[in-house]
Amino acid sequence: MRSFIAGTGSYAPEKVLTNRDLEKMVETSDDWIVERTGIRERHVASPDEATSDLAVKAAVRACEAASLDPKDVEAIVVGTITPDYPFPSAAAVLQGRLGNKKAFAFDVSAACAGSLYALSVADRYVASGAVKNALVVGADTLTRITDWTDRNTCILFGDGAGAMVLKPTDDPSRGILTTRLHSDGALVPILFQPGGGSREPISEKVLRDKSHFVKMNGREVFRVAVRALEESCREVLAAEKLTPGDVTYVIAHQANKRILDATLQRLELPASKCWMNLEKYGNTSAASVPMTLDEANRAGWFKPGDVILMMAIGGGMAWGASVVRW
Ligand code: UT7
Repeated sequence: MRSFIAGTGSYAPEKVLTNRDLEKMVETSDDWIVERTGIRERHVASPDEATSDLAVKAAVRACEAASLDPKDVEAIVVGTITPDYPFPSAAAVLQGRLGNKKAFAFDVSAACAGSLYALSVADRYVASGAVKNALVVGADTLTRITDWTDRNTCILFGDGAGAMVLKPTDDPSRGILTTRLHSDGALVPILFQPGGGSREPISEKVLRDKSHFVKMNGREVFRVAVRALEESCREVLAAEKLTPGDVTYVIAHQANKRILDATLQRLELPASKCWMNLEKYGNTSAASVPMTLDEANRAGWFKPGDVILMMAIGGGMAWGASVVRW
């Protein structure tokens, strides 16, 4: 038995922050941001919107698309690094908001690769028959942990949520074929949030040093990302005896247009096969892959039998790829 993606949904908060807005906040320019990242604007959660508020909207849409009553969901796995509370999980809050009592619910922490990690976990539960369906959500409000005086990072991030409903199928020709995940914990310092955890609990010093915000070595992340994404895409395709030429569409974490262009070029995949939306949303962390999948799906991109290659990388570093036959 395999699991397949029976429905998708997404949500981005209403407020839009443009590059021009950022020009007024830090020493940057629309031209620089567009040239170096491809991002033109991003959505920002309002002060009364937390991660689960975005997640609920995406989840309800995905359940509707999959003809599944949210109360009948049996497992909820949320990829996030910005849960509403340090504990319990955003998944628990989401479950409560959905009025669901049947599911077990937990978060997966793999930064921008969070939804791919969550998908991999939920896939195992559904494909093994342990549950009849699963709700996978990627949701983040990275703007809450962004230092708005740091031009290296504040131009990149936006908020959003994406969701996928997984159901089982006996049809061997469709579904989630292979997913492979990787981590390299030696790379923690190149992208992390040093303060606010158990090493440096919130204190006046943490606030003064701004260590409760995302810290990133952009160049290192860039270098690691291109190599890691290419390798894991080749790995999942090879596991299914497929080549990049067999790929119908690419759904990729929207980190930076240049990272994606370089990865696609190495794989000899035309950019036209990759749904891009980072110009509108920026890097939405764990939300990025399911938001992108939902946009492409609702635009009518996917037909039965299409081979879809998904990839993501984020802090940890944590990365992976998945190959799905629609
Ligand atoms: O999901 C994973 C999350 N992270 C990422 O995907 C980040 C991956 N990395 C990147 O996207 C890129 O490294 C950035 C977009 C963050 C930066 O682009 P870059 O081409 O690597 O620029 P750089 O860091 O090498 O900086 C080049 C110059 C520097 O000036 P000097 O030292 O050459 O005088 C920076 O100070 O650009 C300067 N700079 C800026 N200028 C205008 C850095 N940020 C900005 C800015 N506006 N926002």
